[in-house]
Amino acid sequence: MTYRASAERVRASIQDGSHRPARFLAALRRVRPAERDAWLDLVLGLGELPDDDPELPRGCVPYLPCPVVDLLALVECVPVRASDVFVDVGSGVGRAAMFVHLLTGASAIGLEIQRRLVFEARDLSARLLVSRAPSVEGDAAELARFVPIGTIFFLYCPFSGERLTKVLAGLEPIARTRTIRVCCVDVALPRCGWLTLESSPRLGLEIHRSTYCAPATRPS
Ligand SMILES: C[S@@+](CC[C@H](N)C(=O)[O-])C[C@H]1O[C@@H](n2cnc3c(N)ncnc32)[C@H](O)[C@@H]1O
Repeated sequence: MTYRASAERVRASIQDGSHRPARFLAALRRVRPAERDAWLDLVLGLGELPDDDPELPRGCVPYLPCPVVDLLALVECVPVRASDVFVDVGSGVGRAAMFVHLLTGASAIGLEIQRRLVFEARDLSARLLVSRAPSVEGDAAELARFVPIGTIFFLYCPFSGERLTKVLAGLEPIARTRTIRVCCVDVALPRCGWLTLESSPRLGLEIHRSTYCAPATRPS
């Protein structure tokens, strides 16, 4: 089967409710690594990259989707479970959040500053008839603290500097109540006393774990 035919079949299974994470993973694994990003775009019905808002605030990085190879390494390494709540800090059109949801069954929340991209993410959820991958509009530096149900916070270089510091300050009270993971791709995380680098499965991908609480045993 070509990767196009595979993508159409997988999209149909999502829309008719017969989708299962294990089958999604099996279908992904059958696609050649070099074709996996194109496969995912076909599954999600995503076309050209959208234009960015010319008024994107200074220091905020424009939209660029995280490669599947990094997302897959993250999901396998953490590992992300159906009981997790994955929060994409700077979520664009919702591609990474939707991928993680479909692959693992975890709920996935996107935080995105560009209104048009938020609308595209909501449109994606509506087209696929998926309700557990909502997208919230706003500055993630302010919003992250209001997602206390998050267990995994993901950053694919949305911004740097003060905003990163603010996100970590917002996550600290959450980390005091239970262990969270902060997963970064191509982000130089500021020094943070309550996070420890747990693993770095690929160049540029870092998985940090909070240290206030003893890590709970994660179901396999
Ligand atoms: C490199 S893209 C990553 C997109 C998404 N995480 C993915 O991998 O598909 C960075 C995204 O962060 C968003 N962004 C930048 N600054 C932001 C902020 N302060 N609050 C929320 N989103 C922001 C951008 O609009 C862009 O969509």
